[in-house]
Amino acid sequence: MRLHLSAWPEIEAYLTRSKGIIVPIGSTEQHGPNGLIGTDALCPEIIANHAAADDDDILIGPTFNVGCAQHHMAFPGSMTLRPSTMIAVLHDWVTSLARHGFERVYFLNGHGGNVATVNAAFSEIYADDSLTPQGGNRPQLSMMLRNWWELDGVFALCKKLYPTGHGSHATPSEVAVTYFAYPQAIKEAALDPEIAPSGPIRGAEDYRKRFPDGRIGSNPGLATPEDGQKIVELAAKKLVVDYKKFADG
Ligand code: NI
Repeated sequence: MRLHLSAWPEIEAYLTRSKGIIVPIGSTEQHGPNGLIGTDALCPEIIANHAAADDDDILIGPTFNVGCAQHHMAFPGSMTLRPSTMIAVLHDWVTSLARHGFERVYFLNGHGGNVATVNAAFSEIYADDSLTPQGGNRPQLSMMLRNWWELDGVFALCKKLYPTGHGSHATPSEVAVTYFAYPQAIKEAALDPEIAPSGPIRGAEDYRKRFPDGRIGSNPGLATPEDGQKIVELAAKKLVVDYKKFADG
């Protein structure tokens, strides 16, 4: 069940069955010459929608699709929030949901660069209760963050599909997930070298010098829609288990 495809009476009824919601969260940033700029936001959205397609007891919220991507800003199309902006926006998203009675907010993340900031946002939100005498009037809120590749068995499958050239940015596994969902957007591009260099991540200009085509350590030329389907099906199945454990407390 999806928030954006529901009407308010359906959400009112849902809240009598469950207080939980999954919010896909990612980034809008370059993913090399053949990876989609939306990759990090699309992957958790694709997996979450696959998991909840026919399940009226799982609600998928809107995708938080611009994250912390300052290091990609030397490539056209990339967009970023400052960490302080992202904390403020996450605070308002979660507080909006809590206003209606949601108590358990599960963020399914597609971008490693978001992790520190999302955890800082959680601390900021928990502080609302902790700094209010008796915790205020609202029910206890719980939040969690899960990277989609850390769902049970998913990273092992990715490494099995791509034993070499997996890398850490514009990986063949994330590109495959988007190619499965959007075959019309598959790109052909020459990748030279085949496996991209690795190194530290700093500012945007330094990044573009170290990683001229945007990839880090990866060969996304290996990505196929068929591999993407395998990853999505396993991740969606494991997401249901992980989310339900959290939602049931
Ligand atoms: Ni990515």
